[in-house]
Amino acid sequence: MTSDPHPQGDELRVRDMSIDDFPVVFHIGEDLFTSEYSPSMYRTWDEYEITTLFNSDSELCLVAELGDEILGFALGTTVEKSHSAWKYGYLVWLGVKPGIQQGGVGSALFKEIKRRMREQGVRMIIIDTDADNTAGIRFFEKQGFGNIQQHVYMTLNLSRKATRKRRKPA
Ligand SMILES: CC(C)(COP(=O)(O)OP(=O)(O)OC[C@H]1O[C@@H](n2cnc3c(N)ncnc32)[C@H](O)[C@@H]1OP(=O)(O)O)[C@@H](O)C(=O)NCCC(=O)NCCS
Repeated sequence: MTSDPHPQGDELRVRDMSIDDFPVVFHIGEDLFTSEYSPSMYRTWDEYEITTLFNSDSELCLVAELGDEILGFALGTTVEKSHSAWKYGYLVWLGVKPGIQQGGVGSALFKEIKRRMREQGVRMIIIDTDADNTAGIRFFEKQGFGNIQQHVYMTLNLSRKATRKRRKPA
């Protein structure tokens, strides 16, 4: 569902996330980053995602607020590789409340985290999301992202007994 994110004419404000915001951010993330959202389980949403990123890069942990309601958040970090002079910005989580998506909140959060990353010397921003997340991919393309690369995830189920039959000698 799409609705006006500025119902009372209030200004959308993007600000630093604070400890008091953790529960709201956590619950918005729970609504968005379900097992259907990320079937690979490569990176799952839990409270440690918020606290770990907040501890390492609080300047890159943002919330978007209208009045006193938090509508979305962006959590990021920076990465430096040993043989590269480049500093990378990694936007780990970006989420907007389901009811108000496509109202510009995600763009506002991205604009601010990009500005902060640039200020920290970042030369390239990286994101990752599931290949099925067409809305998310559209969003990032709209922000200027390109060069999509697909990853392969594989699993080995250790709880299943080996059922491979022995070949008979010819
Ligand atoms: C991806 C997400 C953060 C975008 O936030 P948003 O507030 O809905 O995005 P905006 O309103 O700022 O959209 C900006 C542009 O992105 C594109 N876009 C956003 N949502 C889209 C959708 N559902 N389908 C197609 N394009 C979409 C559009 O081009 C849009 O521009 P337009 O409004 O001029 O057409 C939000 O949809 C979300 O929380 N999704 C679930 C979580 C997720 O996938 N996060 C990203 C990976 S961590």
